Amino acid sequence: MNDWENPAFIGRGRSRGHAYFFPYPDEASARNFDRTASPWFKLLNGNWKFHYAPTPAEASFDCNTTIPVPSNWQMHGFGKPHYTNVQYPFPVDPPRVPTENPTGTYVRDFFIGDDWDGMQIRLNFEGVDSAFYVWINGQEIGFSKGSRLPHEFDITDHVRPGQNTIAVRVMQWSDGTYLEDQDMWWLSGIFRDVYLLAHPATHIADIHVHAPATGKLKITTTLAGNTTGYKVTTKLLDHTGRVVKPQPPRLWSAEDPYLYTLLVTLKDAAGKVVEVIPQRVGFRTIEIHGDRFLVNGVAIKIKGVNRHESHPDLGRAVPVEAMIKDLVLMKQHNINAVRTSHYPNDPRFYDLCDYYGLYVIDECDLETHGFCHLKDWAGNPTEDPRWEAACVDRMERMIHRDRNHACIILWSLGNEAHFGCNHLAMAARARALDASRPIHYEGDQELKTADVFSQMYTHLDKVIEFGKQTGKPFILCEYAHAMGNGPGGLLEYWEEAICKYDRLMGGCIWEWCDHGLRQHTADGREYFAYGGDFGDVPNDGNFVCDGLVFPDRQPSPGLTEYKKIIEPVKVEKVGDQYRLTNRYDFSNLDNLHLSWNVTVAGTITKSGTTKLPAIPARKSKLISIPFEKTASGGYLNLNFTLASDTPWATRGHEVAWAQFELPSRRSDIPVATGPALTLTVSGNALDITGQNFAITFDKIRAVLTGWQHEGVALLQTGPRLNLWRATTDNDRASWGGQQYAKQWRDAKLDLLQHRTDSVTAEQLDAGTVRIIAKTRVAPPVTEMGFACESIYTITGAGQIHLEVHGIPHGPLPATLPRLGLQFTMPVAFDQVQWFGRGPGEAYRDTKQAQRFGLWRATVDELFTNYIFPQENGNRTDVSWVRLADLSGRGISCAGLPNFSAHRYTTLDLEAARHTTDLVKHDFITVSLDHGHNGIGSGSCGPGPIERYQLKPAEFRFAVEMRPLTTG
Ligand code: GAL
Ligand code: MG
Repeated sequence: MNDWENPAFIGRGRSRGHAYFFPYPDEASARNFDRTASPWFKLLNGNWKFHYAPTPAEASFDCNTTIPVPSNWQMHGFGKPHYTNVQYPFPVDPPRVPTENPTGTYVRDFFIGDDWDGMQIRLNFEGVDSAFYVWINGQEIGFSKGSRLPHEFDITDHVRPGQNTIAVRVMQWSDGTYLEDQDMWWLSGIFRDVYLLAHPATHIADIHVHAPATGKLKITTTLAGNTTGYKVTTKLLDHTGRVVKPQPPRLWSAEDPYLYTLLVTLKDAAGKVVEVIPQRVGFRTIEIHGDRFLVNGVAIKIKGVNRHESHPDLGRAVPVEAMIKDLVLMKQHNINAVRTSHYPNDPRFYDLCDYYGLYVIDECDLETHGFCHLKDWAGNPTEDPRWEAACVDRMERMIHRDRNHACIILWSLGNEAHFGCNHLAMAARARALDASRPIHYEGDQELKTADVFSQMYTHLDKVIEFGKQTGKPFILCEYAHAMGNGPGGLLEYWEEAICKYDRLMGGCIWEWCDHGLRQHTADGREYFAYGGDFGDVPNDGNFVCDGLVFPDRQPSPGLTEYKKIIEPVKVEKVGDQYRLTNRYDFSNLDNLHLSWNVTVAGTITKSGTTKLPAIPARKSKLISIPFEKTASGGYLNLNFTLASDTPWATRGHEVAWAQFELPSRRSDIPVATGPALTLTVSGNALDITGQNFAITFDKIRAVLTGWQHEGVALLQTGPRLNLWRATTDNDRASWGGQQYAKQWRDAKLDLLQHRTDSVTAEQLDAGTVRIIAKTRVAPPVTEMGFACESIYTITGAGQIHLEVHGIPHGPLPATLPRLGLQFTMPVAFDQVQWFGRGPGEAYRDTKQAQRFGLWRATVDELFTNYIFPQENGNRTDVSWVRLADLSGRGISCAGLPNFSAHRYTTLDLEAARHTTDLVKHDFITVSLDHGHNGIGSGSCGPGPIERYQLKPAEFRFAVEMRPLTTG
């Protein structure tokens, strides 16, 4: 049996785990937490010599090329990225792995100065995927596994002052791989920092800090070496650097991530400082009381995301700047928690979460999901005592490394590894190492060991049920699958469930980012690759692109929606006043600034600021806004912004908002009659001519074929009933769900045919012509269809009022994707203006973040460029929309609440597999919709809830289309 196919063998030469820290020779250098300032730290990142072999047997130290460390070798042309979700990419025959097991050999020299003489020298790897040997100066010093865990080796006896050589040999596959079947790209190599640390011969080997809300700091240090006469002293500094006794301490929370600095100093018998180790300390207590999960005594809400380590160009070798960017974006979007799905992250990530204020569910590097494809999970490692040591080792190394972080509120035993005896052993070990945090594991549905009840993608109704029942606190470790367009239905999860019941802890959206990898077509156009794009088989396609941000961290509409749903201030109108509810768990609302304005038809008519009263967390208060109402209606907008700078946003950053429609005396726009017009029948066409326009109607096909206004052609093809949308990932329900797309495709709603039954035209008076077209709109194959009547009323002013009435008959599908009209216009009319919700994309169950106003955008700007093209760009609750050219000519449409406009057709969006498949037409496809099926989250979980489904039924809707003139 070799080392990498032997689960009982968890490593050789590795030192015991300990907290993540760096030693400094004195206090002054320790205080800055800058490891590069320590003379005892030496980073070995950089270009290493490299040899890539297809099998371990062919590996060689004769390096013929170089590779950056840290990196994933597939991102540098060695092998290729491979994506699978659940399935293992090789035969399941644990602990054996394929013969074809790519093996990278890394070699470099490093220099050790005399100043490290007599010190203990350690070599650290923070992440190597998946198993590796290390040699120093030709001598093997160790072997290790556990891809996303630290590996430390004592190399004191193997190095000498001056030049030394290190060689590392990494195997892509190992028995460890069976424990690392997370839903992500398979990427290999030394992908996190590598460095040397020198410790004085007698030194601090570990520090365990326990900092509860009481302020009773407990520091346990472990010393190594000859400790006779040595002494450890500690000092706690506040943020100004003053030594303090935290009685009582300023508490740490995600809302106020206050950190103290702990300096742990080791002195020798003579009282001389030997080394100083700094740690950040946040005081807080995590407890479970009955069915409530408490941080500092408060049943907080987890407004979380699942985050993978993923970078569009670097794979899992994520630079610290990218981590900061993620965390800042999260904070700016009101997110307060991260589950490190599904493995311990780069250690710096936790420092950043301590600092910016994010609760962390720290998850062990353990997932065996692929065993679900075997009968009853046969051979699943978590259920086999032969794998116990490997499982427990992973938990232990994570906790040793991370337990001093204030941000971590739960230990997670891993993800999707079924449930077995090894989980019990892991939990027991976790409790022994750190009794201060509860344990999470979604696979423990019977709560044999988990302290919180966790589920993923649970239907809203079920969550409400859990809220009403008692039991352990309930968390949605994953919900609202953010794949493509969506997720929908967030409002109900929060308003009807999470905010109502203290037992519900909240949850983490799946997931933070798309894992698309940046590629270019032969002609240089950028796109993001997903499973299968590298010839990787088997694969799970674009299921790897299911984040709230695109791979390049552009927020997707889903992130904007989440921010609004979890905003910390809720406002309700109560009589003439407004009730503000503080939804923070700790902060007082007077930390925010309130400004307000009244907009009428898109113009601000009044504005002001109002001092926010002190409203403690979770309390409400009524306030008045001093404006007088007018007959013209409009909207009152309230904006809550940061009153002062934070590390993640400056003063003025909007954290919450509310909008209220002000009553007005509305009147329907009268159909302007205007001058006279003439109706002539010429062959199969109806020609309606007015003073400055000419409209042509095709009697055979029952459709408008021409609309000239002042000599300009406004239409390319006239409006027709449309029931199809380019299916979304959620419609396609890749992983369970309601299979909407299949229903619709089975019903052939994408292949509608329009049969003309009759067309009549009549001049009602000098200024009005009416055309009545009776049609049957139906898909092929079955007898199902809609009997439609379209009534066009054309006036001398050049307006077209179109009313459509439809009666369904036959065996109808349970839902329709959409119901509305589609037409095309010449490309020049790409200047869009509308009144309604905006500025962003919105559907009936994803519209909360869009406010009513007067908005402008070009057709290109309306487009959401999903990595896998699909329905996108709808604007909703729209009173009217105009599409004009630069001179202002065009059409204004009113009466239908949804519109979208694309340079692509619905079928283009349906057919495309990558953004680069889409080629812009020289016309614009305009959709005006009466309704849509909701978006939901069916790509993995529940589709749109009942009230957001579009059921086929008799319908009647109307649109008023008016030409725009420049005059
Ligand atoms: C969950 C799993 C995640 C991810 C998600 C679908 O079942 O825990 O890792 O695969 O489904 O995107
Ligand atoms: Mg999985």
